Amino acid sequence: MSEQEMKMVQEMAENQEEPPLRYIWRNSDEQVHDVNPIPVVHLGQPDEAEQIKTAIQSWGMFQVIEHGMTPSFLDEVRDITKAFFELPRDEKQKYSTMKNGKFQFEGYGNDEVATEDQILDWNDRLYLTVQPEEKRKLELWPENPSSFRDVLSEFSTKTRKLLDDVLKVMAKSLELDEDSFIRQFGDRPLLDARFNNYPCCRRPDLVIGVKPHSDSSGLTIILPDKDVEGLQVMKDGVWVKVITDPHALIVNMGDQMEIISNGIFKSPLHRVVTNTEKHRISIAMFYTPEGETEIGPADGLVSDTKPRLYKTLKSKDYLGIFFPRYLLGKTTIHLVKI
Ligand code: OGA
Ligand code: NI
Repeated sequence: MSEQEMKMVQEMAENQEEPPLRYIWRNSDEQVHDVNPIPVVHLGQPDEAEQIKTAIQSWGMFQVIEHGMTPSFLDEVRDITKAFFELPRDEKQKYSTMKNGKFQFEGYGNDEVATEDQILDWNDRLYLTVQPEEKRKLELWPENPSSFRDVLSEFSTKTRKLLDDVLKVMAKSLELDEDSFIRQFGDRPLLDARFNNYPCCRRPDLVIGVKPHSDSSGLTIILPDKDVEGLQVMKDGVWVKVITDPHALIVNMGDQMEIISNGIFKSPLHRVVTNTEKHRISIAMFYTPEGETEIGPADGLVSDTKPRLYKTLKSKDYLGIFFPRYLLGKTTIHLVKI
């Protein structure tokens, strides 16, 4: 059995183990600011475009409440997540990322352990591609809880609708044709679900739930835990707690949106911390341009006075350079700047 299969973070937490050396992340001297909630963008209001532009330019993320999902539906999504992670080990292992001794990205487990000196995150996750539908690996979709698949399908459809609405408002806010960002996502954009489980830790000062990173996606929707905080965003050079309404969804800019918007909508650095008492869950939905699609600064955002700041490249090629660096806690966006 590989090391990766042996060490689920959840089990170490249940056994009250001290974090092993591979999980030690020394960052305890960094200050964290506790401020007001992140900006709310009211979709549907006459000034939605102005709201979205201001929010993204100052935070790189915002919250939406008019997302078309009821509070009880959002609770269902959280409940299937909790129920899955509470299943017995053997049941979860049916969906393992480890197949015939090899790591595959989709499934239940930790992120890949690619190198000896990689610091590991205090997090177990279930990663599933949900769109386009023909890419679904249903054998990795939990059958237990019994509502899991239906709830995830419904959440995917509703999330996709919200994402396209948001992309239209974002394009309008820059005086572009409302489809100009959606077009760059291609006919079959990718939507991936990442269910995160962050067990509590005896030494939260020594571990990190998710290392500081910006997302590789175009846009990410996050459904955070209702009761337990942990997500932080880098704003003006300091870490700030991400505080939201319990019924809100977070919309976060990914690196590919930074490229498409020619740097107007920057992808923020964010991270997740743990605590000693309460385990936390979250669901991140990554919306990424189709792999073969060339992405680059939108036409209307480049002119004689506004130089092109990013290269044009295929979305899948961006992901290819992104992931090995992500695992090491390194960012990538600067590598595609001109
Ligand atoms: C992620 C992420 C945030 C969270 O999965 O990329 O940033 O709140 N998650 O768990
Ligand atoms: Ni993220």
